[in-house]
Amino acid sequence: MKKCPSPDRPEYAFIGRSNVGKSSLINMLVDQKNLAKVSVKPGKTQLINHFMIDESWYLVDLPGYGYAKVSLTAKDKFQKLISRYILERENLYCLFVLIDIRHAPQKIDMEFITWLGENHVPFAIVFTKADKLGKVSVAKNVAVYSQELKKLWEELPPILVSSSLDGTGRDEIIFFILNIHKSA
Ligand code: GTP
Ligand code: MG
Repeated sequence: MKKCPSPDRPEYAFIGRSNVGKSSLINMLVDQKNLAKVSVKPGKTQLINHFMIDESWYLVDLPGYGYAKVSLTAKDKFQKLISRYILERENLYCLFVLIDIRHAPQKIDMEFITWLGENHVPFAIVFTKADKLGKVSVAKNVAVYSQELKKLWEELPPILVSSSLDGTGRDEIIFFILNIHKSA
């Protein structure tokens, strides 16, 4: 936390299970292949990584949660670091929670989202890997997820759909970020 740059401009961070595609999404948004390090193996990103955009805001790559293969102590350390970052980072304007579009709602994500709500953290949901499904299945899975969220929330959070492979959602996410800037 101490090594994070001073909180002098808005920042937007990406979180979600290991391997969901956080680092890939950042690369897609900035249109660079290797800015954030990507791996087929989960557990690649292990630190808080800040990328400054246009001298005016930060995109932040975070380690994933729910990766079984790291030791319990490492898991605990990650979790503490991530929760401190989320709760204490004063310039965090929005946290993007990434969810693999292919899967049914998972307990770990639901619990994490509930924790965000309880702590009044501003967040949006971004479904990833939309290229792996057809349009109909994407719409169906978003609907299933929304139903599940409605059990917890009166109002749904913003929901975006993305693919780092084909650029789906890039304009929408950038537009979403710029809109927060405008209203801030
Ligand atoms: P950790 O840092 O380990 O928590 O993972 P991460 O969430 O940053 O995932 P990362 O971006 O490293 O991607 C994990 C794997 O998923 C890589 O093999 C990526 O190529 C793949 N991947 C990520 N996004 C997409 C996508 O939109 N479509 C497809 N088909 N594959 C993707
Ligand atoms: Mg990563």
